[in-house]
Amino acid sequence: MYRQGKYPVVAKKAIAKGIFDITVYCPHIAKLAKAGQFAQVAAEGYFLRRPISICDIDKENGTLRMVFEVRGKGTEKIAELNVGSLIDIIAPLGNGFTVLEGKKAVCVGGGIGTPPMLGIAKQYGENAQVISGFRTAGIAILQDDFKAAGCEATLCTDDGTAGIHGFVTEPLKARLESDKPDIIYACGPAPMLKNIVALAKEYGVKSEVSLEQRMACGVGACLVCVCKTVKDGEQFLSHVCKDGPVFDGEEVDFS
Ligand SMILES: Cc1cc2nc3c(=O)[nH]c(=O)nc-3n(C[C@H](O)[C@H](O)[C@H](O)COP(=O)(O)OP(=O)(O)OC[C@H]3O[C@@H](n4cnc5c(N)ncnc54)[C@H](O)[C@@H]3O)c2cc1C
Ligand code: FES
Repeated sequence: MYRQGKYPVVAKKAIAKGIFDITVYCPHIAKLAKAGQFAQVAAEGYFLRRPISICDIDKENGTLRMVFEVRGKGTEKIAELNVGSLIDIIAPLGNGFTVLEGKKAVCVGGGIGTPPMLGIAKQYGENAQVISGFRTAGIAILQDDFKAAGCEATLCTDDGTAGIHGFVTEPLKARLESDKPDIIYACGPAPMLKNIVALAKEYGVKSEVSLEQRMACGVGACLVCVCKTVKDGEQFLSHVCKDGPVFDGEEVDFS
């Protein structure tokens, strides 16, 4: 079930160059939303909405938080919204992550794939390790939020300007060797997801990955967001917007 409406932006800040963090007051949506779901956000003057993950949900205060990077004309328009502006969204969309109560999780975010990790990591608190990878220190977002949620935050940068100099798969492998989690969640570039799923499989740990695909309708009606999945040896064409964006890692055909 989802809702469409215009809701007030109640907080906005730039958290890195070209990356914005907005909070929207939308109690009906916040009540329904789950970590891993997304919103289709209208960009004034453009016909197609832009999919943005729900980064965090505050059910008590009726708000949703979304963190997005300006990539093109649509996100540039959305970034012009300010506190007091109305934002037109359809949400919550998609399936969201599976939560394993009382278990241990590792959440892996790559670049702008990091925001959806906050909502799920918060549900595990100190039972979550969040491994995030960024190109460089200046765009390493949300680290304080993960720590404030009680999670262990492990930062990696490609250029070594902060945290571990290298890819997220290094600390993930070390964790799998020392203290196997019950589940791995991941969102980020496809090559990163492919390597994470391979590691999860090697160590016999369940994985869930959130896929990013170009979208149009966002509700399963247009076929723009199709991706290949495999279940019990059979191939399927799945809609990322409706059957996902979260898929069992082993069911995604990364080829
Ligand atoms: C489920 C999901 C969750 C996402 N969550 C986030 C998030 O939390 N933060 C964030 O910064 N970005 C997120 N993205 C990516 C974001 O949707 C794109 O960066 C954005 O749509 C680009 O729009 P644009 O008009 O600025 O760029 P343009 O390139 O001008 O867009 C042109 C068209 O292509 C589509 N498009 C372009 N790139 C993408 C893309 N990567 N994914 C889907 N559609 C695309 C746009 O919707 C638009 O219709 C998510 C994408 C998906 C599918
Ligand atoms: S975006 Fe239209 S079916 Fe998924």
